[in-house]
Amino acid sequence: MKRWSAVVEPSWDAQAWREAARAGVRAGVAPHDLDWDAGTQGSLLALADVTTAPVRHPSPRVKAALLQLADGVLCHRQNGRHALLYRLLWRMTHGEPNVLENPADADSHRAHALAQEVRRDSHKMKAFVRFRALPGPAERFVAWFEPEHYIVDRVAPFFARRFAGMQWAILTPYRSVAWDGFDLQFGDGADAGQLPPDDAGEELWRTYYANIFNPARINPRMMQQEMPQRYWKNLPEAQLIPGLLRAAGSRVAAMATREAEAPCRRIPATRAAVAIEKIGLPALRERASVCRACPLWEKATQTVFGEGPENARVMLVGEQPGDAEDLTGHPFVGPAGKLLDQLLGELGIRREALYLTNAVKHFRFEQRGKLRLHKNPAVSHVAACTRWLEGEINTVKPSIIVTLGATAARAVLGSGFALMKERGKLHVREDGMRVLATVHPAWVLRQPEGQARNAAYGLLRDDLSMLASHQSGFSD
Ligand code: URA
Repeated sequence: MKRWSAVVEPSWDAQAWREAARAGVRAGVAPHDLDWDAGTQGSLLALADVTTAPVRHPSPRVKAALLQLADGVLCHRQNGRHALLYRLLWRMTHGEPNVLENPADADSHRAHALAQEVRRDSHKMKAFVRFRALPGPAERFVAWFEPEHYIVDRVAPFFARRFAGMQWAILTPYRSVAWDGFDLQFGDGADAGQLPPDDAGEELWRTYYANIFNPARINPRMMQQEMPQRYWKNLPEAQLIPGLLRAAGSRVAAMATREAEAPCRRIPATRAAVAIEKIGLPALRERASVCRACPLWEKATQTVFGEGPENARVMLVGEQPGDAEDLTGHPFVGPAGKLLDQLLGELGIRREALYLTNAVKHFRFEQRGKLRLHKNPAVSHVAACTRWLEGEINTVKPSIIVTLGATAARAVLGSGFALMKERGKLHVREDGMRVLATVHPAWVLRQPEGQARNAAYGLLRDDLSMLASHQSGFSD
């Protein structure tokens, strides 16, 4: 049987692979008669191109699942991937239509594994790209990243959506992409030396990272799993990690000798008039602790004010404190907070770098026997707390606010905001503040265990993954 060659250029181009694969099936060219690596080896260039082969069969009906799988697999660097996909296509159109669903099949298993590796690499790119400001009057940013696979084309739209209002470029060794606010432009690979030197933002971020590093919460194994060392050289904060890890033991010992605080009721007895001016977070917190602007203070243990650095680049806004938060006085320490911690850990974002707060500062609940059941705050409760939330926003002036859940989204973006329609996108308020609205971790926990919960978790993680980039490089 005559042998043919197929060339896919660039090698991750799904359309080029589809055309060659379709031509092969229409010409009845069996997988072992089609050489997909001719272009890379050079030795078999004498073979005729399969797209010129005579048509003997109708166009194959290709299942969407295979095309979707191919989109991922083609971005892998492994050489045999084009042939692997063609073998699967051939088998699906020659009596094995369900081979993709068979987990024991070697080809199917291999293809799914490659796609999974590409997904993981894409996720790392979303989390570990760090932009640097370019010198000059215009606000432009550039980042250097070294992906394991050919993922720039597939991940670039994510950055275009996330940083739609900025001009940026991401350079990698094999391909570059730039966003001018309207279009993505792809180009050749670049050299790390083309990047400008460290900007002041990176130095600031390193100082800050060292200050907020909490030695008691560090888990080096998890950290390396989630933030593999191969990415460290391009993360400004990574230079500090070995030294901080070495010092962690003695810092934890010192923390352990400090006395724990017992929860107690902390609502002061007096009423106080409040006004929002630029008074700083400690003063705001103190005033909020005596707030009586709505009735929620009466049953709550205490005001739970926001926490985090006054110059945080990212502010997370939740709905209201829950039972655990009400008792301890700290935001996001209960089950939803634990889930949030897990997600932040997975994304390589340190919680201590963020300012965490809530739209409503007192716990609203219904007493059922010994249980205090969470009750959604009313519009009037949110309105009464606006002074505190806006005070926090005006003081911290984050580079981005992330709202968790519908109540927080409406508190920050206005009462007409439709969360499930508008989540995951960047919004800009009239005051220029950038806001990303996403779902609440408690909503994830309310989903039935299994597929629904995993999907909800993935959705929140995807939305939050943009925050990794906001930890450095961006400034207003
Ligand atoms: N849910 C919130 O919205 N905020 C918290 O602080 C805890 C749970």
